[in-house]
Parts: sequence; C-alpha cells; structure tokens
Amino acid sequence: MPRFLLFFSAILVVCGTNPCPCERPELCLPIRAQRDFEVFVFDVGGKTWKSYNWTIVTTVATFGKYDADLMCFAHFHGARVVLKGDVPLSYIVDRDNRTAWIAEKVQLAKSQFMDGINIDIEQAVDKGSPEYYALTDLVKETTEAFHREIPGSQVSFDVAWSPKCIDKRCYDYVTIAESCDLLFVMSYDEQSQITGDCIAMANAPLPQTLNGYDEYLNLKIDSKKLVMGVPWYGYDYPCLSLSQKGICSIPKVPFRGVNCSDAAGTQKPYKWIMKQVNSSLSGRLWDSEQQAPYFNYKDQEGQIHQVWYDDPQSICSKANSVTSKGLRGIGMWNGNILDYSDEPVARQQTAMMWNALLGC
Ligand SMILES: *[C@@H]1O[C@H](CO)[C@@H](O)[C@H](O)[C@H]1NC(C)=O
Ligand SMILES: *[C@@H]1O[C@H](CO)[C@@H](O)[C@H](O)[C@H]1NC(C)=O
Ligand SMILES: *[C@@H]1O[C@H](CO)[C@@H](O)[C@H](O)[C@H]1NC(C)=O
Ligand SMILES: *[C@@H]1O[C@H](CO)[C@@H](O)[C@H](O)[C@H]1NC(C)=O
Repeated sequence: MPRFLLFFSAILVVCGTNPCPCERPELCLPIRAQRDFEVFVFDVGGKTWKSYNWTIVTTVATFGKYDADLMCFAHFHGARVVLKGDVPLSYIVDRDNRTAWIAEKVQLAKSQFMDGINIDIEQAVDKGSPEYYALTDLVKETTEAFHREIPGSQVSFDVAWSPKCIDKRCYDYVTIAESCDLLFVMSYDEQSQITGDCIAMANAPLPQTLNGYDEYLNLKIDSKKLVMGVPWYGYDYPCLSLSQKGICSIPKVPFRGVNCSDAAGTQKPYKWIMKQVNSSLSGRLWDSEQQAPYFNYKDQEGQIHQVWYDDPQSICSKANSVTSKGLRGIGMWNGNILDYSDEPVARQQTAMMWNALLGC
C-alpha cells in the first residue's frame, strides 16, 4: 500500500471511528450467527445484566444508558445488543426527516458496535392516516439500512398483545412483520382497556394472551416472526371494595377511549412482589380461569390492595405455547427486575424465573 494511503487509513481508524472498548477487538464485530430460539431481553440500565442467564440470551435491547461493558459481555456470549428506536410519528411522515432519523440511528449503532435496533412506537395511529403509512415505511427503510450497513444486524418492532387496534394502535401489522426481522409481542398490560366490570384482573391472562397470537397468525404472519413477551412485573391495585368472592373493584381511570383501565394500579417488579406476598393477608392465590397468581394485602393506612402478577407457574404455560405454536422465541419486560442479590431464596427465585422461559 502506498505510504499516503497507509497514513490516510490510520487517520480514519483514529478519528473516523471510536476505538473498540472491549478487551479483544473482535468482540466489537457485529454478531452474524442466527440462533433458532430467541431469548429477547429488555435491559433498562444498571449492572444486573451480569447475572442474566447468558447461556440462553440471544438479544439485549438496551433501553437504559449505553454501557460498553454490556456490549462486550453480550458479544462474548454471542448475543446481539440493539438500540432503542422511538420517534414521534408526526416527524417522520416527511420523507427527508425519516431518512435522517434512520441514518442517525445506523451511525449511532455503528459507533457503539451494536447489532440492530428495536423500534418501540406505542403511539395511537388511525388506519389509513399519513402516520399509518409513514410507520410502515419507517420499519421497511430502517430494516433495509441496517441490513445493508451492519451485516447480520437485527431489526425488531414492538406490538401490542393483539393486532386489533389495542390502545388505538391500528398499524399495518402484516406489512410491518414482512418488513422487519421479528415482532416482539408485548403480551402484558392486557387490561389497558377494560370494557366489562371495573375490577382487578391479571396483567396477562393465559386465554387472552394465546388468543392474541391466534389473531396474529390468522393474519398469515409467519410464526417465526413472533417473539412472545412476558411480564416480569405485576399490578398492585387499591380496592374500592373486596367482595366475599375476592373480587377487587378498582377506581375508574380512563385510557384511550375506555373508562376503566390498569392505570388504576401501579406496576411492581417481581422482586417487590416476592417480598410483599409473604406479608399479605391471603398468601399466594391462583386464578384457574386466568391461569395467574394474585394476593391481597393491607397497607399501613389500612387500605386493601390486590396484586396480580406472573411467576414461574404462569410463565411456564405461556412458554409451552411458544413451542406448540412454533414461535421464534420468548422475552421479557424487563431483565433487571428480579432479585439478583446473593440471598439463597432470591437466587432460587431468580433462577426459576429464567428457567421458566424455556417451558416445563
Ligand atoms: C422534522 O423533525 C424535527 C425533529 O427532529 C421536527 O421538529 C420537525 O417538525 C420535523 N419536520 C417535519 C416537516 O415533520
Ligand atoms: C364513560 O363515562 C362517561 C361519563 O360517565 C360516559 O358518558 C360514557 O358513556 C362512558 N363511556 C363508555 C365507553 O362506557
Ligand atoms: C416467603 O415465604 C416462603 C414460605 O414460607 C419462604 O420459603 C420464602 O423464603 C419467603 N420469601 C422471602 C423473600 O422472604
Ligand atoms: C441457564 O440456562 C441453562 C439452560 O436452560 C441451564 O442449564 C442453567 O442451569 C441456567 N443457569 C443458571 C445459573 O440457572
């Protein structure tokens, strides 16, 4: 190579790209291998990722601050690390703005040695509106750009538990599924629009959850494009009254056109739930219809609460359906909210939650 070219490439290495922060430079290369079964983890920050079960993790979507150690560690274990993508849809109706947004994300991913992007648009969209078409184009163009610029990269898109305009999200699910690598189905917050009795119910009842997948599959979306998302959190509802049968009436809090919703409750991590269940009034109860655990407790002011959540038993039945329906894999919101401390009880609970992802 002529001397001036050598000099020029050296400048490019020093100034044009960030130096690889990993111990070994090859850990900065994008992951190219495809694994049959996805275990897709949302990470919201902190260092608990060190305790994930890296034998099974395939993708980490980083919703917290960029952590180079996490990227190096994931790559060491052959797992992808992907960016979060979110943008007000009104901005990207304009084609130039959309192209600029995509270019910025590709550059960011490259400079941080990431392996793709998870597009998390949870905005209300009317079918046939300018935003409806812009969103579909956004997914298609983002996927093309990432695949071209970062070989082996993955573009995923987050969808509600059912394609039937949940929370007024009327997207072109079929074209979006065709245009990206996978859909992460958020099979939780399934009580965001309660039309029947305004009562506390499971975050992700099994029958409703499975019905959502049947609806996606009925649209002829490839089952290998669907990753089942399960919650590692639950809802704590203050009860207006608790009936003899244990039904907890909740305050009416409207959401996207409906008068009653899970916004009446507070989201609680599994870690908190496992501590609270031991000082509850009822202990762990099981609802055989919704196939979910719950309990009642009284707070310091004397207010009765009902808590609905998921645990290894409820997650296990969902995970079994991932296999029986031939889905691409499973994942959770979010990886950080288990108790990763050294206490023996916590260690066992945490291991059981990870193991439940593979079914039983
Ligand atoms: C383009 O995006 C910017 C934000 O990045 C926004 O402020 C602006 O309104 C958008 N322009 C159009 C025409 O949508
Ligand atoms: C919601 O509540 C309002 C006020 O009570 C009522 O007028 C409306 O019909 C209710 N909407 C639904 C969808 O039940
Ligand atoms: C809760 O109680 C159960 C059963 O008594 C016990 O095995 C477990 O260690 C307790 N969990 C915590 C977090 O204290
Ligand atoms: C991680 O998952 C693998 C595969 O299911 C399992 O064999 C292993 O015991 C798990 N590791 C821990 C620490 O639980």
